[in-house]
Amino acid sequence: MAVTAFPATRMRRLRRTSALRDLVRETRLSPERFIYPVFVDARAEERAEIPSMPGQFRWPLQSVAGLARDVAGRGIPALILFGLPASKDEEGSGAYRHDGIVQQAVQTIKDAVPGLIVVTDTCLDEYTSHGHCGVVRDGDVDNDVTLELLARVAVSQADAGADVIAPSDMMDGRVAAIRTALDGAGHVSVPILSYAAKYASSFYGPFRDAADCAPRFGDRRSYQMDPGNAREAIREVELDLAEGADMVMVKPALPYLDIVRDVRSRFNVPVAAYNVSGEYSMVKAAASNGWLDERSAVLETLTSIARAGADMIVTYHACEAAAWLQE
Ligand code: PBG
Repeated sequence: MAVTAFPATRMRRLRRTSALRDLVRETRLSPERFIYPVFVDARAEERAEIPSMPGQFRWPLQSVAGLARDVAGRGIPALILFGLPASKDEEGSGAYRHDGIVQQAVQTIKDAVPGLIVVTDTCLDEYTSHGHCGVVRDGDVDNDVTLELLARVAVSQADAGADVIAPSDMMDGRVAAIRTALDGAGHVSVPILSYAAKYASSFYGPFRDAADCAPRFGDRRSYQMDPGNAREAIREVELDLAEGADMVMVKPALPYLDIVRDVRSRFNVPVAAYNVSGEYSMVKAAASNGWLDERSAVLETLTSIARAGADMIVTYHACEAAAWLQE
């Protein structure tokens, strides 16, 4: 393309008025791409604010229908559920009980707001006494033993009515194991959104408070990805797609926008990015100190994630951002 330079070209011409800026904007943010994360707590009697995530709550089962109506009313099409079980054990059995907290929440929400998409996070860490994402053997998470449990979790969630299954554990082979189990249980039409490129990130800190799932020993670096690796993320996505993932996720979002862009440009499947708890809490902390304007910081952040290529954004800012976008 021929480039004509100044003074024939003046980039500021199209920035002159807000109407012109609106006309030529390349990335438009709307609540249609948001997925709102919700923590459901089997032991809560009323909603309790999460100290490290101001404005986010652990919800009792009896409040989730109302919450779901509120989310849907804001034009947000989906939420993703995380559970805090009544009790934890070595194998995380609370994750696959038919009357588990997430299974009950799915049923309640689907009854109350059938059109709202309910995604379930498929993992064991909120349910295991040691806080790891799988079965611990000899001090590490045993991959293949864990697959069986994850498949059970996924089937129990689909049985409850989940619309999308989202495994976040980072075990090898879990997408294939879950796909086979879902199909075997008659859930051939339930899609899998795999957390394909999930990094071992310090930005999950507030979530681990919220869901009470910090590992009691060690860390997650033997299964989540090393922050220095980008090519490896492409391999992870390729493998998950080969195993049958319908959609893939990159997580966290902001420190990994290069990965979001790369995945978007290489694969023709819907791509999600998870604007994680630490990203949320940083903005909240700065805003509450008056160091950032919250509204514009949030909308700029979400726009950047969409611009990088995310079709869907999992974000704790979803409800507030949706309201701002509709003003
Ligand atoms: C694991 C899971 C985690 C998050 C989502 N799913 C925690 C982890 O891997 O340690 C983090 C989400 C966030 O920080 O917002 N079930």
